[in-house]
Amino acid sequence: MHATLRRFVAASLLCFSVCCSAEVTRQRLTAADTEPDQWLSHGRNYAEDRESPLQQIDRGNVATLGLAWSFDTSTHRGLEASPLVIDGVIYTTGSWSRVYAISAANGEQIWSYDPEVPRSWGVNACCDVVNRGVAAWGDKVYVGTLDGRLVALDRTTGAPVWQTLTIDQTRPYTITGAPRAINGKIMIGNGGAEYGVRGYISAYDADTGAQVWRFYTVPGSPALPPESAAMKMAAKTWRGDVFYQVGGGGTVWDSMAYDPVLNLLYFGVGNGSPWNRHIRSPGGGDNLFLSSIVAVNADTGEYAWHYQTTPADTWDYTATQHIILADLTIDGEQRKVLMQAPKNGFFYVLDRETGKLISAEKYTKASWASHVDLATGRPVETSNADHITKTQMTGPAPSGGHNWQPMAFNQSQALVYIPAMESIAPYSTGKDFQYSPGGHWNLGQNDNNENSATMTSIPPALMRAVMQRIMKGRLIAWDPVAQTERWRVEHPTMWNGGVLTTKTGLVFQGTGDGRLVAYDAANGEVLWQTETGTGIIAPPISFALEGTQYISVMAGWGGVVGLMLNLPQSASAGTGRLLTYRLGGTATLPTNTISRTLPEPPDQLGSDATIGHGANLYNVHCMRCHGAGLQSGGLVADLRYMSPESHKQFKNIVLGGVLSSVGMVSFADQIDANDADAIHSYIISAAHLQWQEDNAAPWWKAIKSEFYDAFAYLVVFFGFSS
Ligand code: HEC
Repeated sequence: MHATLRRFVAASLLCFSVCCSAEVTRQRLTAADTEPDQWLSHGRNYAEDRESPLQQIDRGNVATLGLAWSFDTSTHRGLEASPLVIDGVIYTTGSWSRVYAISAANGEQIWSYDPEVPRSWGVNACCDVVNRGVAAWGDKVYVGTLDGRLVALDRTTGAPVWQTLTIDQTRPYTITGAPRAINGKIMIGNGGAEYGVRGYISAYDADTGAQVWRFYTVPGSPALPPESAAMKMAAKTWRGDVFYQVGGGGTVWDSMAYDPVLNLLYFGVGNGSPWNRHIRSPGGGDNLFLSSIVAVNADTGEYAWHYQTTPADTWDYTATQHIILADLTIDGEQRKVLMQAPKNGFFYVLDRETGKLISAEKYTKASWASHVDLATGRPVETSNADHITKTQMTGPAPSGGHNWQPMAFNQSQALVYIPAMESIAPYSTGKDFQYSPGGHWNLGQNDNNENSATMTSIPPALMRAVMQRIMKGRLIAWDPVAQTERWRVEHPTMWNGGVLTTKTGLVFQGTGDGRLVAYDAANGEVLWQTETGTGIIAPPISFALEGTQYISVMAGWGGVVGLMLNLPQSASAGTGRLLTYRLGGTATLPTNTISRTLPEPPDQLGSDATIGHGANLYNVHCMRCHGAGLQSGGLVADLRYMSPESHKQFKNIVLGGVLSSVGMVSFADQIDANDADAIHSYIISAAHLQWQEDNAAPWWKAIKSEFYDAFAYLVVFFGFSS
């Protein structure tokens, strides 16, 4: 070709890909598998199977993967997004619902959009200020913001085209989930059931932002007529009126999938507000549609069917976990199925035309139920289930046997890969429940933990050793037809990343201890791994550009477990980034670790009783952001590391709200000056414990570490082996 002509063709192609990139249509989204280079929607296709059809990276060459480029988000909170890739541009989101458009070729930012979520809204977020990504339709991308807006952005420039408020901002709703785009509509739900809200999912016109339909998941005021026939049915399964004041819960905060042939939208519904069923619905009832998978007509929002995974949930067993649609041969018959591994520990296979249960088996330890009765479709609760008369340790914990981290389904292996957990937690029934409005948890659990005082003297390293033995994380390969585990990989920490699989027989997953790993999909053998410098919770994706296949993942530690628990061996929370790999990549990973040293703590103040009281108050009001046992993962300030100045300002911060603009609101409506002093005493005592640990002689540290390990083994052996 003549040189000028060649340049002209190249320029036209570039122009086509940059300024005239093709619209995202129903046709493209329905046939997403015919465009293996792209990642057009949240779970890659409407079935959300997260299986890349790309063939370049395979079992034979994956060992030569290397970093192609990295993009730094400069944030310190959790990153959970599944990036979209459309015509050479990556669209992803970070903390505080910020949207980034990044060149897939070199990682350079094309535009970014900050919805300027007021930082004080963070107090309404149970599980970090995260966002799981955008949806694309036409020439726009759509993001749900933490403070409840749905914003449409021009895909080329990032300029907002419209925005609409999807919530009542007088209630503590949040949006962390990715919207979905179906038939010219954008679907979005919300969260907030720990605080007290009424759940729903809505569909908005993709061009104008006008609301098209809304489906409530739990009944509203018994005094008002129900919004729909579905709500009339649901209302019969609730008792009393506490639920209505608190909100009832049932938020649709994450999973959706769509069957274009049936035109059914499937979504998962969360836990109740409050958690405790005796308080929420005194006298019983299943409390529809809590912890259910619901199918509705995608155009009208009209109810089609539901399946409730945990009737009368009382353990925070949401059914908002990833939903995958597949066609499976079961008993010689081709079935259109829907698969989910909700928090409650059972793996469900449903007929997605009718919602009928096909099978359910435990994929992790679950002590609350013995099995699911296939005749009734209901779980059979054990004596470990209830906690009205006494506190019980029950598994899974509220973090679930599996949380929001997406699974992946490999067609040729016929296996589902589950980022699973094994855990237990204490459940109780609070006395004299009082609904507390605003950004406060309303669980209906017993807040007054009489053990707080003794807990305060446990050395931090011992606490971690025990945690490591009770809370486990693993990758499971699950056969959904036989309902059995095929293989598993144990991880060093419980909280790990979502999963990607490829047609070439690979499984990719990031880990809490800061690695990205490629496994053989058939047997779990590690074929490649790399250090990423930050614990990973997001799922990897794959795309191709000009004949090169890439693997990309958002690396940024956080989320509910990252915030609450300083897990053993979890990588220090360096700044977040988007990491992208290709065969033979040679880019170097910039270091991003933040080191910190403990300042010498001020003199001890307060009696043991005061410290115990402070610990109790801390657990109720502060733990969810500053970490259990005062050991935050370093995302939100670890209060043991406060400077002398912060110690001086303590009451101004906690009661006066002087740090409100960075997300630390005043707690003056919940605690008084004496309470603040007690919490301060507890913080100082914990800082002393850490100070002793940091400054112990190395030989003494080593002996202690062996001792703690042995002690943790005994605690778990005698305390929790049942
Ligand atoms: C919703 C999350 C959240 C909750 C709940 C919360 N905080 Fe904070 N806190 C923050 C954020 C965000 C900051 C700002 C610093 C940062 O981002 O690390 C902060 C900062 C602080 C600081 C200043 C730390 C320093 O080193 O200067 C103190 C003191 C503090 N919080 C005490 C408390 C106490 C006591 C409670 C419970 C009564 C509490 N916080 C509850 C989010 C929270």
